[in-house]
Amino acid sequence: MIQPDPSPFLDACRRQPVSHTPVWFMRQAGRHLPEYRAVRGSGSILEAIARPELAAEITLQPVRRYGVDAAILYSDIVVPVHGAGFGVDIAPGVGPVVADPFRTAADLDRLPPFNADEHTPYVAETVRILAKELEVPLIGFAGAPFTVASYLIEGRPSKDYVLTKTLMYNDPLLWVALLDRLADYAIASLRSQVGAGASAVQVFDSWAGALAPDDYRRYVLPASTKVFAGVADLGVPRIHFGVTTGELLGLLAEAGADVVGVDWRVPLATAAERTGGRVALQGNLDPAAVGAGWEATEVKALEVLSAAADLSGHIFNLGHGVLPTTDPSVLSRLVELVHTTVHPSL
Ligand code: CP3
Repeated sequence: MIQPDPSPFLDACRRQPVSHTPVWFMRQAGRHLPEYRAVRGSGSILEAIARPELAAEITLQPVRRYGVDAAILYSDIVVPVHGAGFGVDIAPGVGPVVADPFRTAADLDRLPPFNADEHTPYVAETVRILAKELEVPLIGFAGAPFTVASYLIEGRPSKDYVLTKTLMYNDPLLWVALLDRLADYAIASLRSQVGAGASAVQVFDSWAGALAPDDYRRYVLPASTKVFAGVADLGVPRIHFGVTTGELLGLLAEAGADVVGVDWRVPLATAAERTGGRVALQGNLDPAAVGAGWEATEVKALEVLSAAADLSGHIFNLGHGVLPTTDPSVLSRLVELVHTTVHPSL
């Protein structure tokens, strides 16, 4: 008799057989949910994140509605640097903004050694509430050094990362010091989240795809490798994700991930080749297909599932976050489709 699978999500991360393909969605909590808009209020998202009962409720909303196989903590990649006092806010509809961006070695003093209990006590408190309430694993997360650095240096979301690359090429010593400091932030934050009850971690290097592979290897890989090594002893699956990272997938695996996130631009078979078949893969439905309604979603989701049939270890997800205009009923049907499509390992 087949025993019920306590966590298809964790099993798939570990490339173990699963009773059904696990599914969760990046940005599953957020503006596309009416229940989110009802409780979120109008202040900065950083204020909502600092209220553990509210942040826990928002984390639970998509788990209740969709029956996804994992929850992701309601927080943000800039929360540690904000908590440590760097001076970063999140502007509605824009993203992270910094009034006084990172420019010189003196700015390193604005990033004191990160202490999760002191700088962001509300994050571990939210995780503790969730660990009691949840019946599925909670994914903790952190921003990767490059992506967080890009916000600190640019001062706002960027298209070309000119200021970031200027510092990277022209002041490599300061660049290494900044990325190393941000690696320590990510490690301390992730360790605190796992200590409080998170069962997996995801490192978001959302904008690393702006880099050519040689530059990624030289300027970014050492710091990201440090992050993965710094949480390896915790024994929880480690997911590594970025957008337009098709050319970097092998390097994302090399950094030490157990699971690599794939966006919709790369076929899963290609991603498996590029990662050497050494990791589980997460992805990779185009969020805009979900935005287009159920017919497009069903066609594209079945393509993803059939592309994943030969993989050992697949976690269904979108190739990037749920778009705010997404119809929740389409995501409900999508979860049901993924759960009922027979998995080849049975
Ligand atoms: O459901 C989840 O995925 C968990 C919560 C989560 C948020 N941010 C909440 C949030 C996660 C995992 C993040 C990570 C994050 N934050 C990333 C990496 C993921 C990715 O999208 O690649 C990045 C790049 C950020 C920085 C950031 N924060 C951006 C670009 C934005 C969007 C700005 C906007 O208003 O559209 C934010 C704000 C933000 N973080 C929102 C949410 C739900 C939306 C704003 C709000 O509700 O006030």
